[in-house]
Amino acid sequence: MTTATAASPAAVDHDHADYDHADYDHAVDLALAACAAYYGDGDTTLDDASYDALVRRIADHEAAHPDRVRADSPVGKVGGGAAPAGDVAHTVPMLSLDNVFDGEGLAKWGASLTRRLGRPVDGGYAVEPKLDGAAVAARYRDGRLVQLVGRGDGAHGEDLSAAIGSVVGLPARLAVDATFEVRGEVLLTREQFETANELRQAHGSKVFSNPRNGTAGTLRGARSRGYRIETTFFAYGAVDLDGAGFLTGDTHEAVMAQVAALGVRTTVATEVGLRVYKTLEEVQARIEEITGLRAGLPFGIDGVVVKADRFAEQEKAGLATRHPHWAVAYKLPPVERRTRLIAVEWNVGRTGVIAPRAVLEPVEVDGSVVRYATLHNPAFIAASGLMLNDVVTVWKAGDIIPRIEAPVVDLRGDDATPIELPQECPKCGGEIDRSGERWECAGGAGGGCGLLAALKYAVGRDQLDIDGLGGTFIEALVDEGAVGDVADLFTLTRDQLAAAARSEKRADTLLEQIAAARTRPLNRVFCALGIVRTGRTLSREIARHFGTMAAIRTADADALAAVPKLPAANAPRIAAHIAAMGAVIDKLTAAGVNMTEPVIETADGGPLSGHVVVVTGGMNGALAGRNRNDVKEIIENAGGTSSGTVSRKTTLLVAGENAGSKLAKAQELGTRVVSEAEFADLVADFLG
Ligand code: IVH
Repeated sequence: MTTATAASPAAVDHDHADYDHADYDHAVDLALAACAAYYGDGDTTLDDASYDALVRRIADHEAAHPDRVRADSPVGKVGGGAAPAGDVAHTVPMLSLDNVFDGEGLAKWGASLTRRLGRPVDGGYAVEPKLDGAAVAARYRDGRLVQLVGRGDGAHGEDLSAAIGSVVGLPARLAVDATFEVRGEVLLTREQFETANELRQAHGSKVFSNPRNGTAGTLRGARSRGYRIETTFFAYGAVDLDGAGFLTGDTHEAVMAQVAALGVRTTVATEVGLRVYKTLEEVQARIEEITGLRAGLPFGIDGVVVKADRFAEQEKAGLATRHPHWAVAYKLPPVERRTRLIAVEWNVGRTGVIAPRAVLEPVEVDGSVVRYATLHNPAFIAASGLMLNDVVTVWKAGDIIPRIEAPVVDLRGDDATPIELPQECPKCGGEIDRSGERWECAGGAGGGCGLLAALKYAVGRDQLDIDGLGGTFIEALVDEGAVGDVADLFTLTRDQLAAAARSEKRADTLLEQIAAARTRPLNRVFCALGIVRTGRTLSREIARHFGTMAAIRTADADALAAVPKLPAANAPRIAAHIAAMGAVIDKLTAAGVNMTEPVIETADGGPLSGHVVVVTGGMNGALAGRNRNDVKEIIENAGGTSSGTVSRKTTLLVAGENAGSKLAKAQELGTRVVSEAEFADLVADFLG
C-alpha cells in the first residue's frame, strides 16, 4: 500500500463532477477496507493504481470541504492509517516518499531541492530502483542480526524477527562485529513467489495473488507455518544504532558500499542498482534505462527513487511531515491491475493437452490491453478457489503471457459461479485423461483430437520440414479423409496432392519435399510424433541415446529415465505414449521413413573432433543468419577444424542450398556430405 498522497495520471479514471458527501464516505470506506485487507492477510482488494485514484478523489473532496474531513481519512497517512503499528519504536522515523510520474514532476522536485539548498545539488543524485515489497529495518548488534522491524506507522513497527534466517541478503552473522541498522525492502523474487505458491498450494493455503502481496504475509507468518518461505532483502539505507558510530561514509553511495562489503545485499548487486549522476538529465536517462530493464528483472519494481547523495545536502534540504525533501519516487506505470474473470476457455494443444485460459474484462496493463491470461491447469483452478465473475489481479512482469493468480475474495459478488471443468475433450468429445496435473485428450496427438495441430507441428521446420504443407493444405487433406495421422503424409498420391493443392505443379514439389522428409534423422522423425512432455531438445537426446526407433520402442520408463535431460517423473507417460503410437510408427517404417540417428565417428572432445569441415551453400535452417565466422566458431567449438576449400583432407562437407562446385568436388573425392539440418543436429549443443 503506497502512501496516500498522490495519484498516477494513468490512474485518474473517475469523473469528479458529481462527487457528493455520500460518495466521499463510500470512497473512504473502500480505501480503509483495502488497507485493512492489505495489512490483514497480505492481499489487497484494490490494485495500487485504483487505490491511488481513490485516495486522490478523497483528497480533492477534502480540499474543497475541509469541514467534512473524516478523522479516519486515509489521506496523507502511511498505509492509509491501517498499517499495524506494532510496539517496536523506530530509532529514526521510517519515512515515506513523495511521488512524481514524469520528467516534469522530476524537474519540479529538482527545482524545489535547489531552492531549499540555495544552490544546485553538488554531491550528485543517487538513483535506485523502487523495490516493490515491504519496508523492513534490520538491527545488527556486534555483527549479529538481532531484530527485524516492519515499517508500521513510521514511528513504531511490528517485530518481524521470526523471519530471521529466511531472508536472503540479510546474513544472521556478519564477519565484522558491527552495530548498525540497515533499512530496505523485503520482497519475493519471481522464483521465490512461484515456490511460495507451490508450497502454499501443497499445504492447502490460498495462493498469493502476486509477489508483493505475498511478502507481508510471508514475513508475518514466518513462525506459525510448518514450512519455510524464503524472501529477499535489498538495502536502500542505513542508520546508526546505539550510538555505535559504525557507519562512516558521508554519502548514501559510500554507506551502501560499506553495508554491501559486510555481506548485506544492496541494490548495487542488480543491473538497476544504485548509481550516482551529476545532472537530472542523466538521472532521466537512467530512469528510461531502468524502465527498459524492468520486465526482465527477477523481482518487481514500481518506480525509481532519486536521492541527493550527500548527507550534508540531505540534512540541509530537510523533511516534510512524512517524506524527505531530498528524495523522490518516480513511479512507473503499474504492471498489475484488477479486472473480472468473464469466462474460461479450454483449448486443445498439439499434444492433446487441454489447457484452461481466462477470458477477462479487457484491462490496460503496462501499455497493452490484456484480454486473456493463462490459468495453468485444473489443479491450479481448484487451489486458487477462482469462480466466474470474480475480481482477479492481472499482472505482467517479464511474462509474455499475462497471468492471474488468486481471486480477490473480499470483492466476490452474488453473481460468482463455479468454473465448470470439461467432462469430455472440448474438441473431439472423447475421453479425458486426468491422471496428470495437466489434463489431456485420451486420444492424444496420434489421431482424433489434436490431429490438425499435431500434423502442423510434424511438418514444421524442426521436424519433418515439409514447408509446402501449410495449414490450409493440411486441413484440406484431413477434411478429405486422406490423412488420419502423420504416417499418412508419406503415402499420399500425386492425385490426392494435386486435388488438395489444385495444382499439379505444386503436387510435384510436395512429392519431392515428402521424399526428402523420409531421410530426416531419427531425432526429427521422433519429434514429429509429438510425444507428450518431449520437444526438440529431448527428442534429440532420446534419438542420440537409443540410436534407432526400434531401441526407443523397447525402452521402458526406467530406460527412458536414463536419457540425459529427461525428468524421471515424465518417463512413464512418455513410454506409454510411445507405445500408443506403435501403429503410426509401423506405418512410418513401412513408408520408408528413416528410423536411425546418423552417427559420425568422433574422437573424444566433441562431435566434430578429428574432422576437417567445409561448409558451402546457403544456410536457411538452424544456421540461418550466421556468417562465415560464426560457423567456423561452431565447428571449432565442436572439436573440428574449419576449412574453406575441399581437398583430400576434407572429411565432411556441409551442403546448404544451391551448393555448387564444392559439393561436386566433394562427391568426386568421395567425401562425406551432410545436409545443413544434419550438421545442425550434430553440433546442436554448440549452437548457443
Ligand atoms: S528510501 C527517507 N529507497 O518505498 C526515504 N525507499 O514510498 C525512505 N522503497 O517506505 C525510503 N525502494 O518501503 C527508499 N530505493 C528505495 C526504495 C524505497 C522501495 C519503499 C520503502 C518506502 C516506500 C516509500
